[in-house]
Amino acid sequence: MKKIIFITSLLLLASCSQKTIEPVTKTEIKTVTSEDIARGKSLYAENCIKCHKSFNPSDFTEKQWRHEVPPMAKKAKIDSEKENLILAYVLAGAKK
Ligand code: HEC
Repeated sequence: MKKIIFITSLLLLASCSQKTIEPVTKTEIKTVTSEDIARGKSLYAENCIKCHKSFNPSDFTEKQWRHEVPPMAKKAKIDSEKENLILAYVLAGAKK
């Protein structure tokens, strides 16, 4: 019996460790897939390097990215879906 409880709690832990991001709208927590990150990366390359050099995700912490991306998305004139994908990409590699 003990063993079963142990395995169940391991499974619970595993399901909690899945990466989530808080989208800018803060109305939903979205689970980030590797496709989201790949799309975010190309959207970043298309939209975020026109005015300045391309920053690496590891140049800033998660807190800094959450602070920088919303005003930059406005500058880049992208919709919130693209903004969230770009956020997913940079947060996946953010400075710890
Ligand atoms: C229309 C021009 C423009 C576009 C497009 C743009 N940026 Fe910026 N970005 C700026 C300017 C100007 C600054 C510096 C001053 C400021 O913060 O407004 C800046 C600053 C930044 C900084 C802070 C750098 C530092 O050293 O603190 C980050 C990070 C950044 N941008 C990321 C992005 C991302 C991500 C995107 C795409 C969503 C983006 N930028 C698109 C003009 C732009």
